[in-house]
Amino acid sequence: MSIISIASQKGGVAKTTTLINLGAGLQKKGKSVLLIDADPQGSMTEALGILEEQEKNLFTELSKEIRGENSNLSDAIITTASGLQLVPSSLELAWAELELVSVYGREQIFTWMLDKLETKYDFILFDCPPSVGLLTVNALVSSDYILMPIQAEFLPQKAVRIFMHHLKTIKKLNKDLELLGIVLTKYDHHKTMNRDIRQKLQDEFGNKLFHTTIRNNIQLAKAQQAGLDIFNYNKRSNGAEDYEDLTNEFLVKMKAG
Ligand SMILES: Nc1ncnc2c1ncn2[C@@H]1O[C@H](COP(=O)(O)OP(=O)(O)O)[C@@H](O)[C@H]1O
Ligand SMILES: [Mg+2]
Repeated sequence: MSIISIASQKGGVAKTTTLINLGAGLQKKGKSVLLIDADPQGSMTEALGILEEQEKNLFTELSKEIRGENSNLSDAIITTASGLQLVPSSLELAWAELELVSVYGREQIFTWMLDKLETKYDFILFDCPPSVGLLTVNALVSSDYILMPIQAEFLPQKAVRIFMHHLKTIKKLNKDLELLGIVLTKYDHHKTMNRDIRQKLQDEFGNKLFHTTIRNNIQLAKAQQAGLDIFNYNKRSNGAEDYEDLTNEFLVKMKAG
């Protein structure tokens, strides 16, 4: 079982899109996948077509764990229209994040909850809010790897460097945590600036930069409006092609350890 968090402090860089479509790509290859939406905004939950708050969700189970009651993450798992397994989010997660501050073992609550999962998955993928609060820290402390989507815009290197700094701190709590890689999203190779930024990232981060880039593709946004992953929505789109390539490269990287 490998646990991966998709994290970046910036919003709108396609974290949620990458998580959904990587998850779907892995499942298409026969891997068992569990998606966990740890963002109180619930954009992954919504993009997978779950528009109503679920009776059991990450918040309800987290609250039980905080109160010392028996939490069971498995009870909160639902199957989406795409056939993906998801622990949905809830707006109340934002409150839970504040409550966590005064809880013993506050950075490790997700780790304890995952330890109790009855079914083991090949991959558990965490969507995180665009901040380094206790929800993100919990996801990172429970994870083996971080995947970092970024947009080829002005100075992304700075954002990556800031994140690397946080990573160093979080490694004190989880020494095994590693950056699996950086993925360029919403990429347009016709734009000189996009190509320049790709080169700069390549020079600075070497093989940590995924060779696969995710092109700008409106189909990816439309798939989310339809509540589906890109393979179920439009398997002939550039988006589907790119996320299939990313899935393959991801699996090669995972094997390489
Ligand atoms: N490659 C892409 N091409 C076009 N639009 C995209 C692409 N990737 C993501 N989007 C859209 O950009 C917006 C932000 O993406 P999202 O995954 O929600 O970012 P984040 O989770 O980092 O905030 C969404 O509306 C999404 O549909
Ligand atoms: Mg998001």
